[in-house]
Amino acid sequence: MGNGIILGMQWGDEGKGKIVDLLCPAFDGVVRYQGGHNAGHTVRFGEKHFSLHLIPSGILHPEMRCVLGNGMVISPPALFTELDRLGAAGIEIGGRLLVSNRAHAILPWHVELDQARETARGAQAIGTTSRGIGPAYESKAARFGARLGDLASEDLAERLQAEHRRVAAELASLEAPAPTPIAELQELCAQWARRLAPLLWDTEVLLSEWLEEGASLLFEGAQGALLDLDHGTYPFVTSSSSTAGGACTGSGVPPTAIDGSVGVLKAYTTRVGAGPFPTELEDSAGEYLRDRGNEFGTTTGRPRRCGWLDTVVARHARRLNGNGTIALTKLDVLDQFDELHVCTAYEIDGERTLELPSDARALANARPVYRTVPGWKQETVGALELAGLPRAAREYVSLIEEEVGARVEVISTGPRREETIVRSGGALEELLGERFAQVIEQRVVAQR
Ligand code: GDP
Ligand code: IMO
Ligand code: MG
Repeated sequence: MGNGIILGMQWGDEGKGKIVDLLCPAFDGVVRYQGGHNAGHTVRFGEKHFSLHLIPSGILHPEMRCVLGNGMVISPPALFTELDRLGAAGIEIGGRLLVSNRAHAILPWHVELDQARETARGAQAIGTTSRGIGPAYESKAARFGARLGDLASEDLAERLQAEHRRVAAELASLEAPAPTPIAELQELCAQWARRLAPLLWDTEVLLSEWLEEGASLLFEGAQGALLDLDHGTYPFVTSSSSTAGGACTGSGVPPTAIDGSVGVLKAYTTRVGAGPFPTELEDSAGEYLRDRGNEFGTTTGRPRRCGWLDTVVARHARRLNGNGTIALTKLDVLDQFDELHVCTAYEIDGERTLELPSDARALANARPVYRTVPGWKQETVGALELAGLPRAAREYVSLIEEEVGARVEVISTGPRREETIVRSGGALEELLGERFAQVIEQRVVAQR
């Protein structure tokens, strides 16, 4: 029984929410540590369906404690909306949600700046989620930000004056409306602070105490490795560390407390927003993936760009995250293809490479080198054992293991908790220890 991180290995939307929900019975708490409500996770079991943006999927498990860590940027109204929706759906939160007083607040002008900058970038727009994420992290790094624990402080207005002037000047230069006036903002922050008060904690102290008591924690990554501010396809990235290191800085838990990480890999690739995507399919196959995989954003509803699996990307992610095991999702979406293409290398300016170039322009010129394998042309939805998959599907899984260099130990063949194969005898079982059996059991219970 250890502490593990769940991370996206592509450009987000790999199905992390489903995998976190699946593995919850093996943990005592779930911790979000970066990003904000740019994330969107869909979780299904039986006929139930939940969309979560800020609160970890663990909240759906009655005993689970959920933490929003210091590394996050949090929009209080978005948090309240999510809490209200969960309450209306009959989910008892009680004291199970604990929010870091060090997390930064997304203020209205962060959203205004995000939108005005995207408009000004025109054809060079990043395609952000317009949630104010980048500007909020920027205020934090510039030491002008407001932490959730600061929202009730009497000198808040005074402290935000300099930032207000800076924002007003930028918005004016972008010909955008003026930011929310300081007095109005202070009133808003005071209201937020009243509702937030019972939720705020020194979460790093709590986490450290829980670890000392022997609790095991699951760190829930948002976004994916290729959207990481340092290691992703810069500048077409988000503004936080969505690779494994973020779990420590964003929660205050030391690296020595982390026992392993699970990489979530979609059986093909999707991307929302702009930026290079070597295996993108702009033809009927891409459209088919979008329809069959229901590839429309949980957060913005935008159609996701779709393409073949890219193992150059997955290897890059595996190395950065130290993923000892892979959870492969959406295998069922590939059920009806005659043949499948898997990118194993790039050709850039006539040179073959196995590595992701650091430069977005070089990546935009990368020509994927494909291995073509037969499809299985059979339904895999709901398979519970590897042996129950068609041979070509098992070979597809083996190809991924060989190219990426980690064992695939979860195979998801449908959106529901119960539509999942879990393999024993590997890094996942080692990480979950004796509670591995509970994960297997809950999947079968859900199916009854
Ligand atoms: P996340 O952001 O990584 O949590 O992923 P999202 O929830 O944004 O997107 C994944 C989508 O795929 C959700 O709608 C899930 O319900 C769905 N999903 C997850 N796993 C599977 C699967 O194995 N098969 C199918 N068909 N859908 C899946
Ligand atoms: P989950 O957790 C997919 C993308 C945006 C844009 C870029 C920057 O559901 O996997 P931002 O608003 O963060 O400044 O946008 O990052 N992006 C995501 N794409 N899934 C996500 O989260 C994403 N969060 C941000 O589309 O390209
Ligand atoms: Mg998502």
